[in-house]
Amino acid sequence: MQVSVFKSANKLITGEGALASLAHELSRLNIKAPAIITDKGVSQSGALSHVTNVLNCECPIVIDDIPPEPEISVIEQRLARLKQHKVDGIIAVGGGSAIDSAKVLAATFDYTGNIADLFGENLVAGRALPLIAIPTTAGTGSEVTNIAILADPIAHVKKGIVSDHLLPDVAIVTPEMTLSCPKHITAASGVDAFVHALEAYLSVNASPITDALASKAMTLIFHSLPVAYANGHDVKAREDMATGSLMAGLAFGNAGVGAVHALAYPLGGRFHLSHGMSNAVMLPHVMRWNIGACQQRFIDVAGFLHLPVANKSQLEIANQVVDAIEALCRKVEIPATLRDFDISEDAIPLLAEEASKVTRLLRNNPRVLSKQDIVQIYTEAF
Ligand SMILES: NC(=O)c1ccc[n+]([C@@H]2O[C@H](COP(=O)([O-])OP(=O)(O)OC[C@H]3O[C@@H](n4cnc5c(N)ncnc54)[C@H](O)[C@@H]3O)[C@@H](O)[C@H]2O)c1
Ligand SMILES: [Fe+2]
Repeated sequence: MQVSVFKSANKLITGEGALASLAHELSRLNIKAPAIITDKGVSQSGALSHVTNVLNCECPIVIDDIPPEPEISVIEQRLARLKQHKVDGIIAVGGGSAIDSAKVLAATFDYTGNIADLFGENLVAGRALPLIAIPTTAGTGSEVTNIAILADPIAHVKKGIVSDHLLPDVAIVTPEMTLSCPKHITAASGVDAFVHALEAYLSVNASPITDALASKAMTLIFHSLPVAYANGHDVKAREDMATGSLMAGLAFGNAGVGAVHALAYPLGGRFHLSHGMSNAVMLPHVMRWNIGACQQRFIDVAGFLHLPVANKSQLEIANQVVDAIEALCRKVEIPATLRDFDISEDAIPLLAEEASKVTRLLRNNPRVLSKQDIVQIYTEAF
């Protein structure tokens, strides 16, 4: 077995009622003047009040205008605003957009350079403020990963800041925070979580530890996402999604994601598809491509999804897995093709050019992709 390192938030607190531990965690981390980083959707839905109701300090600073899929300039502006206050810790409350922003803000509170210079791996010098992450989607897994993704509007791409200094001190993952999550966000972020688990399971860096997390995450998400989508107030389905998303985050935070994410990135950067939507639309096409490189792994996945396999050939089972995943996306009403998002086929060469540069993720994929292969996969997605 090759050597592998397992990274996570320092402490995970999960389950219904987990928010009750927030006050204790703030004292433990010696946070007396926290800033809450969130967004308008989360504050207006009432989800934020679950957090403010259990805080043991008065009048925290609340920055509640993080937009979805934030750009670098958003972080620079919020950092300038945050620095006007005496803040000694950060609580991130939101989906991946708010949590990623909070991770960068906590790391850069005493940093005077350009945020753009931190894109890449291990370029963050340290973290200035302690950080507690409370996800409201299920989800990105950002509460346990060492990456923050920001859009670069000039280059039209989404880029990652990768550093262990971004790993939160505490992640509090609880279904009540996701009950108000709107249907289309439940669908997109839920499929994103499934892709995290699947790509981690197929990754060339998978380990027995990430396999255990990824396989359970796939079982939980595959069965609970349609239920949570149909009835957002089904607490059991929301709890299974929250747990599945967390486990998927732990899996991909260590094994990495692959070509689905690499081909999704340019769709977000160029055409502003949300992270979840862009992954969902590329998912079946990349997976059909991957089958040849790791058929046995697809057969394992058929077991995790409880698909019927009797009297089927190995190739039929692997194809059935991709069909089932495609059917999951249709159940939660995610459009099937790039054409549905008004993207022209003329964009394929540009998309392929940009995707082929996402080597940080392509190198995790079980099958090597040339630029011509990427062109073919995008063409199939139209
Ligand atoms: N750091 C990582 O490991 C990682 C992994 C995957 C994705 N991401 C990034 O995360 C971002 C996407 O995050 P996301 O899919 O969680 O969505 P999001 O954070 O962009 O939120 C989408 C919308 O849903 C609303 N919302 C979220 N939770 C809600 C709730 N409980 N009630 C009411 N409204 C709610 C928000 O207000 C927002 O308008 C992208 O920028 C993506 O690149 C990061
Ligand atoms: Fe993702």
